[in-house]
Amino acid sequence: MEFKVAVLSGDGIGPEVTRESIKILEAIGSRFGHTFNLQTGDVGGCSIDKNGVAITDETLDDILKCDSVLFGAVGGPKWDVTSENERPENGILRIRKELDLFSNIRPVKVYKDLVYASPLKPEIVDDVDFIIIRELTSGLYFGEPKKRWNSEDGIRESVDTLYYNENEIERVLRVGFELAMGRERKLHSLDKMNVMATSRLWREVATELSEEYPEVELIHMLADNAAMQLVTNPKIFDVIVTENTFGDMLSDEAAVIGGSMGLLPSASLSSVPGKQKKTLGLYEPIHGSAPDIAGQNIANPIASILSTSMMLRWSFGLNEESDLIDNSVDAILSEGYRTIDIAKENEKSLSTSEIGDLISNKINY
Ligand code: IPM
Ligand code: MN
Repeated sequence: MEFKVAVLSGDGIGPEVTRESIKILEAIGSRFGHTFNLQTGDVGGCSIDKNGVAITDETLDDILKCDSVLFGAVGGPKWDVTSENERPENGILRIRKELDLFSNIRPVKVYKDLVYASPLKPEIVDDVDFIIIRELTSGLYFGEPKKRWNSEDGIRESVDTLYYNENEIERVLRVGFELAMGRERKLHSLDKMNVMATSRLWREVATELSEEYPEVELIHMLADNAAMQLVTNPKIFDVIVTENTFGDMLSDEAAVIGGSMGLLPSASLSSVPGKQKKTLGLYEPIHGSAPDIAGQNIANPIASILSTSMMLRWSFGLNEESDLIDNSVDAILSEGYRTIDIAKENEKSLSTSEIGDLISNKINY
């Protein structure tokens, strides 16, 4: 089969880890006879430097013609100014909005062989395996007004707006229920209904929708309580669904349970998975651009490689190919190969490209 993939590797370690994912796509292509046509483009700081904006309209148009997007990371100190200038992050925010990628799926899995790398006690993290679904195209990050101004007496003021309508809430909750149906049928919906109007609407819509899914146990939990449960009792979770900002915070917290952010992939989808044959999606590692280690060939490419695996599964329906990538990652980890972020003290670690080669050799031997 033939697929068109937009590749936006971005800033910092983005290009290094994305390069390894391309290696994996090539290995899958030659093993299974698929062709992945790659369309590269600029996003983030590198696009600001070249074009003055974090993503150009032409690049957005090009992406819309592709079957999926493989994304690296954006941002870095060079563009970190607090003024209201164009920021690298606008690139990813604009893509999410333009492609209507309303659900962001972040699987959190603790590898048996990496329990030692977790900041939490082994008995707490052993067997942890859940997914967080974060609403991605509304809420505080997009609501208007969003601005800054000076009052008449010279006080600096600013506002962000947290807005949700019931349709935006329902469609992402539906992703939660659907994924819960394929797992343990337990869905935690997180909100702050004790304080926020949007959360009360969220909870109401969740309760209404649960009538369509009687087999799924719906558990409402306050987001601050969930933050605590994530580090004291993460095993209670199977599928979590929540709004944009809570999901941003909590998924970073969840990401380190497994020992390194360098292991966790994500998928951002424009439709409820499984409902359509093909789902337009953007796939990116959860970690950011990590400017402190950029260019050194030491970043962990596994999060990007697993994101590529998610792309094959969710956007292209290539389950066998996706399983092979996941199993190859498991295999090299259980054989003891590590990048520096997950290596034990004094243990030899491998480079980004060496890990990519090992995984690619497992796929295409
Ligand atoms: C993420 C990132 C982004 C976000 C940034 C880069 C805009 O932190 O994907 O979690 O806040 O959504
Ligand atoms: Mn984030």
